[in-house]
Amino acid sequence: MSAKRIGDHTVSTNQPIELAPRADLQARTEGDPGGAWILVAVLAAIPVRGARVVATPEGDVAVFRTSDDQVFAVRDRCPHKGGPLSQGIVFGHRVACPLHNWVIDLEQGQAVAPDEGCAARFPVRVTDGMVYLALRAF
Ligand code: FES
Repeated sequence: MSAKRIGDHTVSTNQPIELAPRADLQARTEGDPGGAWILVAVLAAIPVRGARVVATPEGDVAVFRTSDDQVFAVRDRCPHKGGPLSQGIVFGHRVACPLHNWVIDLEQGQAVAPDEGCAARFPVRVTDGMVYLALRAF
């Protein structure tokens, strides 16, 4: 298993990324004019059409990388019965939940009709090959 050190985190290819406790994160992002962006991964460490889990003080967030190299972040909890979306099949800008195959639109966080429900989305951006997450759901 390969691993890479990013700030206070070690990023490997198959382990969840653990973030510091909330208070620690707030201290570290003070003065961030962009509004608390947290470095969570090297883009190359997220498999194409796959995801990495970021363990946050507010629950697990799945960071997806699509085949066109777009990155999306949603809570790692299916709106149906809580399945781990990070283990689903990514196609286009959607993911199929591994438990009962609901399809979630990664851009909106919404279940695709006829199913109904929403997984919280989080702001995510890629700068110079590094992935940044903001812990304010929308
Ligand atoms: S828990 Fe995701 S489809 Fe049922």
